[in-house]
Amino acid sequence: MRNELQSIVFASNNKHKLEEVTDILKSRYKVVSLAEIGCFDDIPETSDTLEGNALLKARHVFEKYQMDCFADDTGLEVEALSGRPGVYSARYAGEGCSYEDNVKKLLAEMEGITNRRARFRTVIALIAGNQVRYFEGVINGFISTEKKGSSGFGYDPVFVPEGYNQTFAEMTAGLKNTISHRALAVSNLAKALLDVE
Ligand code: IMP
Repeated sequence: MRNELQSIVFASNNKHKLEEVTDILKSRYKVVSLAEIGCFDDIPETSDTLEGNALLKARHVFEKYQMDCFADDTGLEVEALSGRPGVYSARYAGEGCSYEDNVKKLLAEMEGITNRRARFRTVIALIAGNQVRYFEGVINGFISTEKKGSSGFGYDPVFVPEGYNQTFAEMTAGLKNTISHRALAVSNLAKALLDVE
């Protein structure tokens, strides 16, 4: 029996993500944020894949602080746009753009396009004991023709998950967080972490 929980760094300072992950792993791990380890570096996300960016963040922490760590990256992949905006989802409408700018650009690009299929994909890179592993979470859905709802963030007002007729932004946070790409990726990570010993 172990008395002390093992620490693992989640390379994020996003309060919502930290709460979600801490809640899932709390029986076995003490999840620590970047701020808690004193890391205020602007970690560059220069890869052209979600896997690459997640690994860049996790590796930065692992190498600088010698602590087991995981990091995530998410993209919205639209079928009719050959997977764009994908890894560039945060800055689709340009550096420093707002969520609103991105949604506006997406709706403009999708004007007249009947294939509205899209998916959110989250990749988590875990570095533990010198080994790298990846976990994925995907939710399929559709891009609506107009914005609906005011909850959530990012592309939520225009993303309708398959099997639902509301956008993510019309759902309660509770429902979105149960079915989302991020929740699925975190749950896959948790299964692996909680099964190891
Ligand atoms: P991040 O990797 O979690 O920072 O996500 C990158 C970008 O993808 C964000 O800036 C958002 O534009 C978009 N995004 C990620 N997750 C979501 C989500 O759950 N809903 C809507 N947009 C999201």
